[in-house]
Amino acid sequence: MQTVTRLFKTFQPNTYSLNITIHRVARTFEGEVEITGTLTKAQSFIPLHAKHLIITHAAVDEQEAAAEIHENDEVQIATTNQLATGTHTLKLAFNGAITDPMHGLYPCYYEHCGAKKELLATQFESHHAREAFPCIDEPEAKATFSLTLVTETGVEVLGNMPVASQQTTGETLITTFETSPKMSTYLLAFVIGELQHKEATTKDGVIVRTWATPAQPIESLAFSLDTAVKTIEFFNDYFGVKYPLPKSDHVALPDFSSGAMENWGLITYRETTLLADPEHTSVSSRHYIATVVTHELSHQWFGNLVTMKWWNDLWLNESFASLMEVIALDHLRPEWNASLDFAAHDTVVALRRDVLTSVQAIKTEVHHPDEISTLFDPAIVYAKGANVLNMLRAYIGDTAFRDGLRVYFARHRYANTTGDDLWAAFEEASHKNVKEFMYAWLEKPGYPLVSINQQGAHLELEQKRLLLNGKDTTSLWPIPLLAEPPFAVELLSKHTTALTAATDTPRLFNKGGKSLFVSRYTQKSHRDFIRSQIKAKAYEPVDRLRLLNEGTLLARAGEQRLAEVLDLMSGYENEDRDAVWDMISLVIADTRRFVEHDPAAEAGLKQLVLKLIKKNYGELGHTFSATDSEEVIKLRATIFSLAVWAEHPAALEFALSEFHRFKDPGDLPAEIRSIIYGAGARWRGEEAYDKLMTLYKQTTFAEERHNIAGGMSATRNLDVVHKLLAHMTDTSIVRLQDTAFWFVYLARKNDAREFAWQWLVDNWGWLMQQFGSDKSLDYFPRYAASAFTGKGWLEKYEAFFTPKKTDPALRRAIEIGIEEIISRTVWFERDEPSLRQYLTEKQ
Ligand code: BES
Ligand code: ZN
Repeated sequence: MQTVTRLFKTFQPNTYSLNITIHRVARTFEGEVEITGTLTKAQSFIPLHAKHLIITHAAVDEQEAAAEIHENDEVQIATTNQLATGTHTLKLAFNGAITDPMHGLYPCYYEHCGAKKELLATQFESHHAREAFPCIDEPEAKATFSLTLVTETGVEVLGNMPVASQQTTGETLITTFETSPKMSTYLLAFVIGELQHKEATTKDGVIVRTWATPAQPIESLAFSLDTAVKTIEFFNDYFGVKYPLPKSDHVALPDFSSGAMENWGLITYRETTLLADPEHTSVSSRHYIATVVTHELSHQWFGNLVTMKWWNDLWLNESFASLMEVIALDHLRPEWNASLDFAAHDTVVALRRDVLTSVQAIKTEVHHPDEISTLFDPAIVYAKGANVLNMLRAYIGDTAFRDGLRVYFARHRYANTTGDDLWAAFEEASHKNVKEFMYAWLEKPGYPLVSINQQGAHLELEQKRLLLNGKDTTSLWPIPLLAEPPFAVELLSKHTTALTAATDTPRLFNKGGKSLFVSRYTQKSHRDFIRSQIKAKAYEPVDRLRLLNEGTLLARAGEQRLAEVLDLMSGYENEDRDAVWDMISLVIADTRRFVEHDPAAEAGLKQLVLKLIKKNYGELGHTFSATDSEEVIKLRATIFSLAVWAEHPAALEFALSEFHRFKDPGDLPAEIRSIIYGAGARWRGEEAYDKLMTLYKQTTFAEERHNIAGGMSATRNLDVVHKLLAHMTDTSIVRLQDTAFWFVYLARKNDAREFAWQWLVDNWGWLMQQFGSDKSLDYFPRYAASAFTGKGWLEKYEAFFTPKKTDPALRRAIEIGIEEIISRTVWFERDEPSLRQYLTEKQ
């Protein structure tokens, strides 16, 4: 199998002195770089990464050299004589182009006071630094960076480090930054343009600033600033090693491919993940912003201070950052109950994806450079990884977990690690065999289904992998039981295990949901008992939502019927936690797909939903008040959304009258704007389109554009569908950062699906141009698969995407996509008759 050539083995940079002159209007840049480093083999060239760069001059140790281009973004700086091992200095002059795809050095567009404006920004993870300057573009190649930027005047120039000196000569501004500590190339960044900021200082004197273009209200920088300051202070304490840079900048960019990026000292964000407008940002968006800020700040340690040696250990970055979000928020905002949201989102997402045979393990080898970006599977390296680490935390205890991290950071700062270094630190702190415990969870795909057969006080437990297609009878996991009160056995590590309980009360397993398995209670009396406990709210919210989630997984795997899950769900009428309602909404969304083409069953589902929400809707209504708690605001929005879908007369009437009434989004409560837009689009066709599209073009507030795009996709008017699709390749309307969202919003709608797919097929060439080298390319096969059910759709998907599997950036997403459509189709065929019966006869 092909592997990626690692240039660091041959040449190990120590210092970069980098000077880049930027010609924004001409869309070009030129630069010089001086790299000192160690050559480990005597040979007549030094290899570097460079992509789409022209190297105009090269010298090694002051001797002229030639830049020869090789495959896989490699350039060899060739000398006429043999170079000895040891230190060498390279000097290169180069130039390149600034292009729209959102990686390397790229422009961001915005309007302010009627004028078209631009920022310039960088995005180097995972391997795009090579598009801006020649370098060893591998995480292990840590070096110091001294950066100078030559730009136009009248702009802010931000880098990883504070500005050391700045001078204006005529039309140019020369900015030199302080030299950075040793760091990886993927974390280097700079941003240039007109920006406004808010500033605060941590207890330890770190300057924290949040930035946005002048088109945004300055108050929208306050919430993230406050969160950032408190988060740095918390991590300083928790990790036992202080934030190492003098400053921490956070910039909201109008065009940004992912959610946010942890560049050291200069974190970049989408506007929606940093800017919390006091009047216009919903509570759930505000919570998400805090999540993103804590995630990126945790990377300043996990990833930036201590970095994975190679991308196969990407989980050391992303799994940890995804868990640290929860640990930080549980500390900073205990009332938000971030762990419960984690159970409702991350755990659900992970368990739903990890039942497919083509899904990779958390730790995965990289065979081709273009495969690196496919490792960032949100469900696996983020969500499953975070769950597995959280399980480890529960297994060794909070204190040992934190102490292990303190050892790890103190020992490996400014260096690179593999998982083994972390396990060693945890083992020292916990005296448990962490490495052995983690092996199967980390390096094998999937997770176990545990069948529980309780007869009196005697229990028999059996584990096997939960899979939707195919069988796996060999995989075994060491499963922490985390039982209260504990059993004599701590880990289930065999296929079958017998246990004895203290009493013969039916036991609930995985109480608290921190272990990563799905339980199946084999005895009907046991299931009935659990159901009665849920109804009585005798279990914690986390278990209430977990049991429902487990029900849907068992239904997907054919272990029970979807109708049985709905029956279980009908016991949730008294539920009062929004996170649990998120789970209920997901079950309803699953079921909606089954009834899309079946009006009688759909009517039955609507009846079921109306019954389920009756109590909550009756109590909460749809009017928001200034004294509502955040939990009430979120819950009311969730219930209202279900009510409008189920055509609750009062809810629908309110939504449509609000749609008619509002002139400005500010006239509507932030939490339910997208629901109101959706109701308008669905029931008021063309007229709604005009109103919403005008607003979409006018607003400078990115969250509002999401609300509107999501809302508009609910239309049933095909003319409107075609108009929406036509906008999607016009980047002056739909920004590149939002194309994939527009696509998935429409593809998931029954009325628009066929046309959204045709749009994708027709515009594939354009999509490749815009996203061909970007990590977001695989959103398209992934999102399409998430929208398709049935043999006809499977054929269309395969006919189009199978030939594209030769692209390493797409192969994995396509294979998983095909499997996902197949398993959903099988599920549909299996469960549709009994579901139809349940919905048409029982309701
Ligand atoms: N490091 C990633 C962003 C990234 C990964 C950019 C790969 C380019 C290539 C960042 O820390 C991240 O994980 N961002 C998330 C948001 C986060 C809060 C889950 C994202 O962009 O989705
Ligand atoms: Zn991350």
